[in-house]
Amino acid sequence: MATKFILSLLAVASLVQSIPLIPRANVWETLPPTPLLPAPINNVKAPINGVNLWFQKYNEARGGTPIVLIHGGLGYSAYFGDVVSRLMEKHYVIAVDRRGHGRSTFNAADTFTFEMFAKDTDDLLKAQGVSKAVWVGWSDGAATTLAGLLDSTINRSITKAFVFGGFQKPSDTNATFTDTSVYSTFVSRCATEYAQLQPGVDFMSFATKVATLEGTLPNWTDAQLAKIDGSKVTVAGAEHEEAVNLAVAPHLASVIPRSKLVILPDVSHFAPVQNPAQFTAAIEAFLVA
Ligand SMILES: *[C@@H]1O[C@H](CO)[C@@H](O)[C@H](O)[C@H]1NC(C)=O
Ligand SMILES: *[C@@H]1O[C@H](CO)[C@@H](O)[C@H](O)[C@H]1NC(C)=O
Ligand SMILES: *[C@@H]1O[C@H](CO)[C@@H](O)[C@H](O)[C@H]1NC(C)=O
Repeated sequence: MATKFILSLLAVASLVQSIPLIPRANVWETLPPTPLLPAPINNVKAPINGVNLWFQKYNEARGGTPIVLIHGGLGYSAYFGDVVSRLMEKHYVIAVDRRGHGRSTFNAADTFTFEMFAKDTDDLLKAQGVSKAVWVGWSDGAATTLAGLLDSTINRSITKAFVFGGFQKPSDTNATFTDTSVYSTFVSRCATEYAQLQPGVDFMSFATKVATLEGTLPNWTDAQLAKIDGSKVTVAGAEHEEAVNLAVAPHLASVIPRSKLVILPDVSHFAPVQNPAQFTAAIEAFLVA
């Protein structure tokens, strides 16, 4: 979403972290602490397409079609932690760290694309014997979900899709996003977390790949998105969305035929950490819609 901003922010990350937090009344202007995934946390990674992908199944005994949670750019599955703990009470849930993110590896020569992330996700599920899944994507994970829905080799295995904070082109990014304190807090926090999750791996080389991805892709026309079978798609937006232009979620819902639109109140692009109960309820409503 902004190569130069990510890079300059990293340079001042320690400075940003030392600025005392200003108390704020509105949850949509905050980035609550990164949630914890339910314990114990897996060490298992699956070798997929030349990388090792971290994933974890929750409440597999519940059976049925699993719900796959696909996190956003620079982050990892833990950002969905409070949603996982709620959702797994009644559902089989799978969390996946996308290539390069969280505990999953990447290759120096990789050029990240949303199609690559979608294929990694689908191939991981197939390797786990999962032939059908519900995909829930957030931000870059939402673009990954749209890429999966657009790919005829993948879309038959997606039974339903919940697309939160998604976009179809780089100019869908809100021009003031990088000015927000939530953004600077998020990027510097991701750098700190990455050093713990993948000691010795260069966050800058990873973040540069993400910034290049977000600066150039996706690149979908309305006509392409119109090929998606929207009867299985819910497009979700946030009332106070600050990362993606406010018109984008309604636009995606208008061009994906038969898709549904929900706008989550009182939250921003970071809804899954700001109000995980509301986010989980929205997924559960989508599952039965
Ligand atoms: C799968 O993708 C192809 C290619 O984009 C598209 O034509 C088709 O409608 C999609 N099918 C579903 C079920 O979304
Ligand atoms: C985006 O798509 C347009 C038209 O299909 C093409 O001209 C342009 O080169 C594409 N850009 C990228 C970054 O793929
Ligand atoms: C961009 O986000 C700000 C909030 O940070 C909002 O006030 C503004 O309306 C958004 N712009 C667009 C074009 O959605």
